Amino acid sequence: MENHAKYKNFGNALRCPLCEESLQVVQSKSLICPNRHTFDISHHGYVNTLSHSPKSRYNKAFFEARKKIIMESELFKRLHEKISAIIDTYSADSDKPAFILDAGCGEGSHLEKILDNSRNETVTGIGLDLSKDGIAQAAKNYKHSIWLVGDLAKSPLADHSMNLILNIFSPSNYKEFKRILAPDGLIIKVVPRADHLKELRDAIHGIEENNLYKNDETISLFKKHFTLTDIITVTDARELDKSERTHLVQMSPLAWDSNEKALDAFITRSSQITIDADILIGLNQKETRL
Ligand SMILES: C[S@@+](CC[C@H](N)C(=O)[O-])C[C@H]1O[C@@H](n2cnc3c(N)ncnc32)[C@H](O)[C@@H]1O
Ligand SMILES: [Zn+2]
Repeated sequence: MENHAKYKNFGNALRCPLCEESLQVVQSKSLICPNRHTFDISHHGYVNTLSHSPKSRYNKAFFEARKKIIMESELFKRLHEKISAIIDTYSADSDKPAFILDAGCGEGSHLEKILDNSRNETVTGIGLDLSKDGIAQAAKNYKHSIWLVGDLAKSPLADHSMNLILNIFSPSNYKEFKRILAPDGLIIKVVPRADHLKELRDAIHGIEENNLYKNDETISLFKKHFTLTDIITVTDARELDKSERTHLVQMSPLAWDSNEKALDAFITRSSQITIDADILIGLNQKETRL
């Protein structure tokens, strides 16, 4: 589908992040609001809704390494399969078109894999991220979804326009998520558990200091905003070869500012890598108490 046609079909789900009015496609190349705030559709089909790009350590190399691991290794396979199954169960009774937003999607590979596994063909994926590098990469590689550079704390999406929000290893803004979710919408948030990438944590922090990470506070906060319907734990371990372990280091904020010798030793020695995460499933039924 042509890029502008994609945005025409998606039209009502967008709003101007500056004045909150609706956005329309004009001249097949831009989105414009009644106050003439204009956002161009890029050559590869993404839209940048930010007036300036914040400097970030989430850069091209970080996202390229993430894509390699997410798409080419099987490290996240079980996590993807579980999430796709949740989406299929949730949407089983409906053949209406549904919008699934991945808030903080990075370079888009999780969304691509999850939608690929899902049997539901009425779904449109929307990826939103603060990083232009991440979104540019997503739009180049994955043509079916809609890709937006934007801030999840002030998103370019209309009230109650999304049926489901994914939020995978990324920050949240629950007030904003509640605004854009349909009244009976679902949120699926993935948070790491204590053993997540423990081989890399051990190499960086030493074994004694490890296992201190807890996600209880994240879960309590989630429960204040949404009706928690389930928590699914995904634990898996896979062998990664040396080049994959190099990518794992490059894709992990954990490794930022870490001792290079320790990282080299990790790349040379470890081969088994553990994934340990909770999938929180919440329904948008509750009034916000905060
Ligand atoms: C650890 S990365 C995870 C990316 C992706 N979900 C994945 O697992 O590959 C965190 C992401 O959150 C994005 N992010 C951080 N703050 C954000 C905000 N306010 N709005 C949108 N995205 C944000 C970053 O740009 C980064 O891509
Ligand atoms: Zn506007």
